[in-house]
Amino acid sequence: MAASDALVDAARAARAHARASYSTFRVGAALQCADGAIVTGCNIENATYGLTMCAERVALFKALSDGHDRFVRIVVVADTAAPTPPCGPCRQLLWEYCGDIEVVMANLERETARHQLAELLPMPFDRRLLKG
Ligand code: THU
Repeated sequence: MAASDALVDAARAARAHARASYSTFRVGAALQCADGAIVTGCNIENATYGLTMCAERVALFKALSDGHDRFVRIVVVADTAAPTPPCGPCRQLLWEYCGDIEVVMANLERETARHQLAELLPMPFDRRLLKG
């Protein structure tokens, strides 16, 4: 199933809520749950800088907190011509809780890239390695 216009629109709408006064780089994300629900997030920055939370993790944590536990894809939207991919920590957390979902990148006009998360996080460290 392709990323629907509704999912991309939801990520664009979430981006409008970004708290990005330090970087001015506004990001929106929309996570599609297996039951069809859409959970959104935006990046939230802070004067310490280091406490910044990415849009993807905001969406993921909202979804997990609401009881969703199976996911299909995530859309990431930024106002960039080139794709804006999830950062390393977001890839790790998405892998942990979502598995090999589709990661769709888009800007305000069009889709810019589409990858499976396994392509973006090859050779992951995960719970399989902890079961000696
Ligand atoms: N950011 C995201 O929210 N998601 C990404 O995929 C890339 C980066 C945010 C973090 C920070 O608020 C700003 O973009 C600049 O790095």
